[in-house]
Amino acid sequence: MLGLSLLLAACSQSPTTGTEPNTTSSEETTSSQQTDAGDAPESSAQEATTTAEEAPSEAVPEKPSFPPTAPFPEIQGGQVLEDTNPDPKVVEVNLVAQPNKIQLSDTVTQIMYTYNGIVPGPIIRARVGDELIVHFTNRLQEPTTVHWHGLRIPDKMDGTPRVQSPIKAGESFTYKFKLREAGSFWYHPHVRSHAQVELGLYGMLIVQEKENIKFTRERSVILDDILIINGRITAPMSSHMEAMHGRNGNNLFMHGKLGALSIKAKTGEVERWRVVNVANARTMSMKFTGVKVRVIGTDGGLLAKPYFIPTTLHIAVGQRYDLEVTYEKPGDYNFSLMAPTQTGVQALPMVKVNVEGEATQTPSVSPNYPEIPALPERKSDQSVTMTFNGVNTANGIEWQINGKGYWKEPIYTFKEGETVTMTLRNLQAQEHPFHLHGQFFTVLKRDGKEVFEPGLKDSVLVGGNETVEIQAYFDNPGQWMAHCHILEHAELGMMGEIVVTPKP
Ligand code: C2O
Ligand code: CU
Repeated sequence: MLGLSLLLAACSQSPTTGTEPNTTSSEETTSSQQTDAGDAPESSAQEATTTAEEAPSEAVPEKPSFPPTAPFPEIQGGQVLEDTNPDPKVVEVNLVAQPNKIQLSDTVTQIMYTYNGIVPGPIIRARVGDELIVHFTNRLQEPTTVHWHGLRIPDKMDGTPRVQSPIKAGESFTYKFKLREAGSFWYHPHVRSHAQVELGLYGMLIVQEKENIKFTRERSVILDDILIINGRITAPMSSHMEAMHGRNGNNLFMHGKLGALSIKAKTGEVERWRVVNVANARTMSMKFTGVKVRVIGTDGGLLAKPYFIPTTLHIAVGQRYDLEVTYEKPGDYNFSLMAPTQTGVQALPMVKVNVEGEATQTPSVSPNYPEIPALPERKSDQSVTMTFNGVNTANGIEWQINGKGYWKEPIYTFKEGETVTMTLRNLQAQEHPFHLHGQFFTVLKRDGKEVFEPGLKDSVLVGGNETVEIQAYFDNPGQWMAHCHILEHAELGMMGEIVVTPKP
């Protein structure tokens, strides 16, 4: 009953006053463990039953032509999509977008949009260098696409309306591409995404490093919030507030349930968290207490030099962080969402961790990180300034890039291999998490001052009235969207294209 009353309290708030999400607790969604199709046990069993006498003279067991791939590490926080292809270098999966009834809490059910019936969608897992084949079917009653956020793939596979006509209701499309980088990525539609993502269309895409890194386990942690009014997810773009700031939910929505995510661990365990913010608009500022947390990776994969988080980790919409989480002492810990309110910042439980008992491995795991070279220094070939602004028009607010909304022609054309310093200037108070498709960049400065935000990114927060300088590496030719990842802003004009012409 406690959960219910908290929920009702949150739902009776008007959407214009309630920006802090409710945080009733929920159990973690059932996790499933990837079992790899490796047939090592079978072949060793065969060996064991073949005695020397029985073995014909040339009964040398046929050697596979490739070394068998190690199974993926254990992962919690979602179901792993089944790989239907026996080739160890190919991951082939079936993905279906379809409506389904989801039990958000003991008392709230809602028809949501799902991938394969679940929210979040299933985890797609492969290894760097693999080919990924996704047979996608649209069983929604509206067009959709699948965009592979952060991956450097051929643009035809990028799932944006610039390169693909949206997949109509009832139709199918096969996405097929090679995975060039290890890292934590995600997938979501690129058609009416402010509505479709809010309704549950998102999932994690994990590209494992060449060799498994040893952790107690990996964990997918997907941060989301949703806006529920009168027991229902409200229709998209339902208020002026939403057009201005994007939709901020009044409930945390963690792994398909309302409220905080609850997890369990043991003292001495070391986990790898793959964290992604899939909210429509909310920057998730997460404060960790009682555990040791190191940032080991960003949007573009592992860092050359991991670092400890000073206090709070700010995760803009679209961004990913890979964290090394060490549980040193037993206890109950709350990792809080630092949510801004009219009266200041409120700390709300976001992930609750119960640490109990001792780790079974002694000594506890110490991750075997591969040597990651520092990013090569690159000289910029040119500099551009991108301005972000919002204006009132006869049709309501329009969000603009360089003085224009709803760009039809490319905003910029660069050459493959070009390095470009991009100055992202926000002329107003609303924030804009800027996202660039198909390329990576690094963050250099904020308001003229050098910052420590290491690692490759494809998404960066440009705060209210802030100027952020990035260095972007246009190494992947094609037509690439560049947009604000506040999905309402993108829908209201703040989206365009950057063309990268291929080397002759
Ligand atoms: Cu995550 Cu253009 O999107
Ligand atoms: Cu924006």
